[in-house]
Amino acid sequence: MIKNICCIGAGYVGGPTMAVIAQKCPHIKVTVVDLNEKRIAAWNDEDLNNLPIYEPGLANVVSESRGRNLFFSTDVDSAIDSADMIFISVNTPTKNYGEGKGMAADLKYIELCARQIARVSKGNKIVVEKSTLPVRTAEAIKSILENTGNGFKFQILSNPEFLAEGTAVRDLQKPDRVLVGGESSPEGQEAIIKLVDIYANWVSKDRILTTNVWSSELSKLTANAFLAQRVSSINALSELCEKTGADVNEVARAIGMDSRIGSKFLKASVGFGGSCFQKDILNLVYIAKSYGLNEVADYWEQVIIMNDYQKSRFSKNIVKTLYNTVSGKKIALLGWSFKKDTNDSRESPAIYVANDLMEEQASVVVFDPKVEETQIYSDLNYLGTRSEIENKKGLKVSSSYVDACKDAHAILIVTEWDTFKSYDWKNIFDQMKKPAFIFDGRNLLNKKELEQIGFIYKAIGS
Ligand code: NAD
Ligand code: UGA
Repeated sequence: MIKNICCIGAGYVGGPTMAVIAQKCPHIKVTVVDLNEKRIAAWNDEDLNNLPIYEPGLANVVSESRGRNLFFSTDVDSAIDSADMIFISVNTPTKNYGEGKGMAADLKYIELCARQIARVSKGNKIVVEKSTLPVRTAEAIKSILENTGNGFKFQILSNPEFLAEGTAVRDLQKPDRVLVGGESSPEGQEAIIKLVDIYANWVSKDRILTTNVWSSELSKLTANAFLAQRVSSINALSELCEKTGADVNEVARAIGMDSRIGSKFLKASVGFGGSCFQKDILNLVYIAKSYGLNEVADYWEQVIIMNDYQKSRFSKNIVKTLYNTVSGKKIALLGWSFKKDTNDSRESPAIYVANDLMEEQASVVVFDPKVEETQIYSDLNYLGTRSEIENKKGLKVSSSYVDACKDAHAILIVTEWDTFKSYDWKNIFDQMKKPAFIFDGRNLLNKKELEQIGFIYKAIGS
């Protein structure tokens, strides 16, 4: 039985996942390690408002176990050494250099972890891939462990994570399924059982699937590709709805009631964001191409092409509607995170929309309930479109939505934060330049009410 777990990587996946394992398995000691000292200090902060990531319900879960059987540390070596099972939950971003640049997954952090585990281990270990990885990565990890280790035995399991940000705690506590891939050898099967037994502390056995390693690795990329494909599909239809007088919400409802299609993930939007959909599909496209499967690659790449188009279509529509110029006009952008209930803004559509409008010389003012000002500038600077000084000039961050909207020509809803719905829209309208426009990139607000107030309201897909 596993008594001691180490997780390398205290990010959006490692932190919440281990916090829930520790909560549900008080008999297991869980140590989450990271090289990032600031991040670990934040996980250890007495004030639970300062945890490094915002997720509803997470602070309670952490406070229940932290210091009891949940620990956060920068001492990676000793956590590896004392663990029976090591989860690798480090980032696997898109490569931004060399072969496969802009497509392939950058596995340098994974390799570093494997080498460190091999170097430090003084006993047999089970290594669990929690990060999202290209199919057959376990082969590379095994080779590193066997060739650079101290002669101990390692079993590699694939256990991809399916949590979505904003609902991470709920997804972890009540997962649709848990997937564990392992080798067919007796040692592989024994390792699978050990990991299954951990989850079985709170997940019913019929929801825990076991497969071979390659199926498990590929299922994760496939799940994200299918989810993103649904968003691109409904977004593609949103433009056709705008042209034809159909309403994308009505179409989504009508098709979603077909149990074969299902109603989830059919919300038209300004485009999907987040650290994973784009990265994982690009990775899938790269893998397909590397096997010479060009039609397969092109098919999936279209999901990304559609998403990029949807983001730029949103910006272009704003410029066109505001009489073909936003130069010098104040535009209030509400919401910077890639979805509600998270402070994560990686690949958020807001970044691209703001950037497009700044190219048109708009004066953009951003308000987000959770994303910090430094993060907003860092996202924008990362694009490299203009200098940091120019970014500071062209875009301001406001801590008050009232100030952000005052004297604006238009308001953009880019994230579906619930709190936006409860704003005093009449008061906001009174303080705006006229005509006052709202471009609702999430179909979040009530069109009828806003039009009654006097707004010109533009939704996606109607
Ligand atoms: P993240 O960037 O938030 O966290 C990764 C952490 O790993 C960072 O804090 C980094 O400092 C640390 N790290 C990197 N190399 C290290 C090393 N050698 N030693 C110690 N620490 C190291 O990333 P994330 O969002 O948690 O994603 C992690 C993985 O999980 C990715 O493969 C991602 O695709 C996958 N995933 C993410 C989500 C999500 O919602 N974010 C969901 C499912 C799967
Ligand atoms: C997604 C998957 O849902 C998770 O299962 C997966 O574990 C995770 O990626 C990952 O591998 O990182 P996440 O990106 O956190 O989770 O959030 P989603 O709820 O999937 O939303 C992704 C993006 O799609 C957001 O920008 C969201 O606003 C957008 N979206 C989603 C829509 O525009 N319309 C929809 O109907 C659904």
